[in-house]
Amino acid sequence: MPTALVTGAAGFIGSFVCRRLLEDGYRVVGLDCMSDYYDVALKERREDTLLTYENYRSVHDKVETPGLLMSLFEAEKPNVVVHLAAQAGVRYSIENPRSYLESNIVGTFELLESARAFPPQHMLLASTSSAYGANEDMPYCETDKADHQMSFYAATKKSMESIAHSYAHLFDLPITMFRFFTVYGPWGRPDMALFKFTKAILENAPIDVYNHGDMKRDFTYVEDLVHAIRLLIDAAPVRPADGKVEEGDSLSPVAPFRVVNIGNNDAVQLVDFIAEIEKATGKSAERNLMAMQAGDVPATWANADLLKKLTGYTPKTAVPEGVANFVRWFRQYYDT
Ligand SMILES: NC(=O)c1ccc[n+]([C@@H]2O[C@H](COP(=O)([O-])OP(=O)(O)OC[C@H]3O[C@@H](n4cnc5c(N)ncnc54)[C@H](O)[C@@H]3O)[C@@H](O)[C@H]2O)c1
Repeated sequence: MPTALVTGAAGFIGSFVCRRLLEDGYRVVGLDCMSDYYDVALKERREDTLLTYENYRSVHDKVETPGLLMSLFEAEKPNVVVHLAAQAGVRYSIENPRSYLESNIVGTFELLESARAFPPQHMLLASTSSAYGANEDMPYCETDKADHQMSFYAATKKSMESIAHSYAHLFDLPITMFRFFTVYGPWGRPDMALFKFTKAILENAPIDVYNHGDMKRDFTYVEDLVHAIRLLIDAAPVRPADGKVEEGDSLSPVAPFRVVNIGNNDAVQLVDFIAEIEKATGKSAERNLMAMQAGDVPATWANADLLKKLTGYTPKTAVPEGVANFVRWFRQYYDT
């Protein structure tokens, strides 16, 4: 039975990834520090669903704790590592940048050092569409230069990409970096727009709409994202023998390392997204129109051709269906 180490296991995406791997016959070691960045009870409830599987082992600690990952790697010798633990969120990185440095950079360093000692077959690390920063050419392509990050969150993620590339090159560690695009769905994060909007609308409270609603996002439904991750686990990058890389592939010429967008290849206007929440809740939103937030970008849009080429898969859940599923979960979970 192969073993997977999933960091950020009690997180939104991590809990779905763990469940999928357990269903697929993996033994899963889930690491999460249960940070109080948002409601810990939600993380505990997600974890409860994982603890019902006998092949699930839960570890509560920080990825950056010196020696922790090294001893986990030594004991578990994971075949696959999915690294999702991070301090996420653009706005909070202005308030508390140190937590991003520690979780995202030092944590990733500890992970890579452990992998150097006990190499897994494939490591997959979460980066973000925010890494594209100030790029204006849409849709965003993995082979585009991405040098102008707009938030410290994005900067730590882009740094993780560079650090991981150096380890892939030096120690021949196959690494895939995911760039996720606004992931949403049941069990979603309370700091993200869909959760905040749904909660406010159901409580008849106003919603804060940034950039006066002139925003576009490539919303990716969580089940689609996890399906893509599952397929990418089996598509480990191989260092090209002659340094030659095919057109459109982000594979490094000098390392078994690749960056892959996971998105829908569709940019949806925020106003249309809000309209779907109104439809699903049966209530209309009172909009509080606001200026653009510092560190944020007005649009994201994924070119998903590389994902398709590597896995044959393209995310397919449309926003109306995904939003309705979220609202149904929210009302049931919070009994509202
Ligand atoms: N949700 C999105 O739209 C989105 C978009 C782009 C990138 N990402 C990235 O995907 C990953 C998962 O995101 P998510 O939405 O599931 O977030 P999440 O906050 O729900 O999950 C992250 C989990 O990591 C844990 N964690 C945080 N710091 C830790 C540390 N130092 N040590 C151990 N555990 C720690 C948290 O307790 C949390 O449960 C993150 O790396 C995030 O940056 C998410």
